Amino acid sequence: MTILSPGPNPPPTPAARLAEALDWLAPRIPRPQLGLVLGSGLGHFAARLEDPVRVPYADIPHMPLPAVSGHGGELCVGRLGKTTVACLSGRAHAYEGHAPEKVVFGVRLLARLGVDAVLLTNAAGGIGDDLAPGRLLVIDDHLNLTGLNPLVGANVDEWGPRFPDMTQAYDAELRARLGELGRQLGLDLAHGTYAGLLGPSYETPAEIRMLETLGARAVGMSTVLETIALRHLGVRVAGVSCITNLAAGKSHAPLDHDEVKLVADRVRDDFSRLLVAFCSDPMRS
Ligand code: HPA
Repeated sequence: MTILSPGPNPPPTPAARLAEALDWLAPRIPRPQLGLVLGSGLGHFAARLEDPVRVPYADIPHMPLPAVSGHGGELCVGRLGKTTVACLSGRAHAYEGHAPEKVVFGVRLLARLGVDAVLLTNAAGGIGDDLAPGRLLVIDDHLNLTGLNPLVGANVDEWGPRFPDMTQAYDAELRARLGELGRQLGLDLAHGTYAGLLGPSYETPAEIRMLETLGARAVGMSTVLETIALRHLGVRVAGVSCITNLAAGKSHAPLDHDEVKLVADRVRDDFSRLLVAFCSDPMRS
């Protein structure tokens, strides 16, 4: 596959950059119905897709490359049951220095490729006392505490409104469906609000107490900007966090990214079963 670089004069607007990526990508892949963003430890899930077409991020014009270990950097489109699914393995995080436009570039691409829903997954710290490492949590709502928003700047009217509604950020039907599938699979799924922070430092115990007061159950460094961009584009969003550790101050153990990856690996079979069920589910839409 040829490596395309944006060249010396990249298109001047976010809309033009996305259009260039879409023009390059759309003819090379089947049209997806559902998008999946695979967080820490879940990158392997793309291997479950049948008849996969795999495209390295480096080949897609303007697609940012994730840097953190535990993430790949590949779009994979294939079938699960009757659904054509587009998986993003690896994401760009704002803490790596990527501008919000770059952080959401991949999910905007999924939206413009035609998906009607995206399932965002991530690793998160557990704030509730019942949220032991290894538990999966369906995101009911979020707190965007990154100080960033991908919609800052001129609105692209073709994408969505200047002031998009966020009351149903995480689709009620998809959340209920995830809960139902979890019960069928014997998974003890939790529900709650995800607090998205900029990172990359983990939180202090005082910050975790603040988040608890605000009603957060899980805390992480991704997802919220993607949700905002997708809702702006009218795409339905679902989110699942893998609780990889107790949030700061909830245990005496120091927080450590290797531990996060270890727990994410341990839970990946449960997580994969839920994702397979969700993607193949004919009641999804
Ligand atoms: N805080 C923030 N991000 C995280 C955590 C955490 O405790 N665990 C995994 N990602």
